[in-house]
Formats: sequence, C-alpha cells, structure tokens
Amino acid sequence: MSNIRSATSSKTRSKTASNATSNTAKTRSQRPSAKLETSPSLPWIFNLEGTFLGFLGEAPDHVTAMVLEVDQEQMAIKLPKNLCEAVKHAVRRRVLPLGAQVRCIGRSQLNFSAGVIELKAYCLFLNPGKPTLLAATSANQPASKIMVCHKSGCKKRGGRQLVEALERALKDYQLQDQVEIQYTGCQKCCAKAPGLVIMPGKHRYDGLRPEAVSALIEKHFC
Ligand code: FES
Repeated sequence: MSNIRSATSSKTRSKTASNATSNTAKTRSQRPSAKLETSPSLPWIFNLEGTFLGFLGEAPDHVTAMVLEVDQEQMAIKLPKNLCEAVKHAVRRRVLPLGAQVRCIGRSQLNFSAGVIELKAYCLFLNPGKPTLLAATSANQPASKIMVCHKSGCKKRGGRQLVEALERALKDYQLQDQVEIQYTGCQKCCAKAPGLVIMPGKHRYDGLRPEAVSALIEKHFC
C-alpha cells in the first residue's frame, strides 16, 4: 500500500496492517486535498466514498486508522477508539471485507505544524448506494480521562513523575487530544500514593510507577 493521502500522525505513518496481511506501507503527508467533499456550512466536515483497503497501525491491536481508496488515491482516516473497535469487529465477522465500498463521514482538521489535513471518522456506512450504518461515534460517549490526585501527599510520592509519564505516553500514542488528564483532590488512597482513576469505567489504580504507564494507556485507550 503506498502513496496514501491525508495526514496521519508520524506514528501511524510508520506502519500499516490489514486484517489479512501486514504489508508495510509508506505514507506521505499531503497538502489539503481539493478532492475532499466539504460541507459549505461546516468546512471541517468531510464525506467520502471509497474502497476499504485495510488499516494503519501496528497490527492487530494498535490500529489507529483505516485506509480508503478514493478516486484512485489512498487516504488514511483516523478512527476514534469505539469506532475502531466496531470496524475491527466488522472485519473479523467479514461484514466489512477488504475491497468493500464504504462511505465515511467525519471531521478534517488542519495540522499546521505538519502542513497536512488530518481526517477523523465519525460514522461509516456500508453499500453507499443503499447505505447501512456500520458504526458511529456516540455523541453521548463518556469522556476519556485520567483523574490524578493532585494533593501534596501523592505529588511527593511520585505523583509529579507519574503525570509527566502520562503526558508522554498520551503523546506517544497520539491520544493527547482524546484523553484528558484531570487533577483531583485526595482520592483516599494516600498510603498507596500516587493514585489515579481512569474514566470511563472508574478504574482505580494506586502506587503506580512511571514505567507502568505505557501499558496502562495501551490497556484502556488503544
Ligand atoms: S493525597 Fe493522593 S490519595 Fe490522598
């Protein structure tokens, strides 16, 4: 798979995988494309129809984007976590085979530093001629956040380093726009400081060391 249009993160540019193969692909950054169908009233909404070619990301558990061929050009489209799970599930059940025609609606965002447009899917339809909703992000989807105790007890016992590690890991996994770090008061686990809670799901952790953070982020958000 080569010559993929659209911007993806440096991480998603580096590796590609489909459900069936793990072909390595080179992607390239792209200046804003005239082929994007943007709504006149909402300039950042795109609406694309194309052929599903597979996924970008470290296969199979770190999929971050899918690839559509649109007008003979390959475009990488980021998938929010819940949409990503739905799409992977559809591929596993063969509801969404490679080569299927899909319509994808989402939001585009200009990445000024990279000089590229990033595409993020909000919903996917199979059979664009007779659309069937395959997956959609939920407007009511609970926010993803990491609530970290910010009281001095935790801060002194590794809380600062923990927050630094969290920020680094979110950046590494390109999740800094999707997962918020929120500071809280005492979480009543001072004896096992530092403490944090991951939402959604209210997963509580205490005594976490910075070296454990990557695995934690992978487990809950990737
Ligand atoms: S000070 Fe952090 S849990 Fe109490």
